[in-house]
Amino acid sequence: MQDKIIYITRKIPEVGLKILREKGIPFDMGTSKNPPTKKELMKALGKKPYAGVISFLTDHIDKEVFDACPTAKIFANYSVGFNNIDIEEAKKRNIYVSNTPGTSSVAVAEHTVALMLALTTRLVEGDEFMRKGKYKGWDPDLFIGTDLRGKTIGLIGAGQIGTEVAKMLHYGFSSNVIYSDIKRNTDLENIDGVIRKETEEIFREADIISLHVPLLPTTHHLINKETLSMMKETAFLINTSRGPVVDEEALVYALKNNIIRGAALDVFEFEPKLTHGLTKLPDVIITPHIASARQSARDMMAEIAVKNIIATLEEGKAINNCY
Ligand code: DGY
Repeated sequence: MQDKIIYITRKIPEVGLKILREKGIPFDMGTSKNPPTKKELMKALGKKPYAGVISFLTDHIDKEVFDACPTAKIFANYSVGFNNIDIEEAKKRNIYVSNTPGTSSVAVAEHTVALMLALTTRLVEGDEFMRKGKYKGWDPDLFIGTDLRGKTIGLIGAGQIGTEVAKMLHYGFSSNVIYSDIKRNTDLENIDGVIRKETEEIFREADIISLHVPLLPTTHHLINKETLSMMKETAFLINTSRGPVVDEEALVYALKNNIIRGAALDVFEFEPKLTHGLTKLPDVIITPHIASARQSARDMMAEIAVKNIIATLEEGKAINNCY
């Protein structure tokens, strides 16, 4: 394998690098902490005949990038999502594209529930109030929150992450869970009270809506002016999936005009940029795409990305090919 060198666009955990070393697969790795620009990425990929690439969700892999690295047989994405890669183009060129399914389901589900609790308990508002020295003593009317118990949680998308969220809310908080998904999730429906509904019913019935869909042409701006107006005035929206699933301009408008009650976002339509007005709204909690940020998840992601590279080099086929 000494002749097959691979490129890793940014640092991945040691567990992944160790497997490569043990297999005798040499690699070059980008050293920048920040995402490389497309130009920088293409320049780096053009330096050697790389047989495979471990890419990040911040690398936009398109026609030109594939051209810059014509020897690569695989782009192994170091993430569950792979909307940063032009799959159709990869398919045409017989280049494998792999992801790391299942590596962050618990982490993302816990972060999702943490965001729900942060909204319903008004945790961030309370923290800010204290830091500003505004607290004058116990006040029974201060920051009245909402219970999760008995509330209807609407999950849009019930894959591995959605399933974990449903279980945490059903068993941990006695919430009612409803979901919509193109596929039926019998594992979920085996839980007493969990019901599959049409997406429109989720919009109308849920007290909290949480998004767990991949970014596809069919899910782009799934949350828009029209769907926001179907939601309850008291509803909260949570997005830990992909930013462009939400039309953020429409969301800012809905929040400003009390069309819905609040939102918590870990991903952003124009990431890393924030839509104008978002940070000015008190009923919004924003975290910097950290839902999966656990060492356990990152280690598994590195291991799976590397294993996809090895399978492609040794057996001519990726394990988790995305198409
Ligand atoms: C993913 O894996 O797709 C997350 O968004 C980042 O870890």
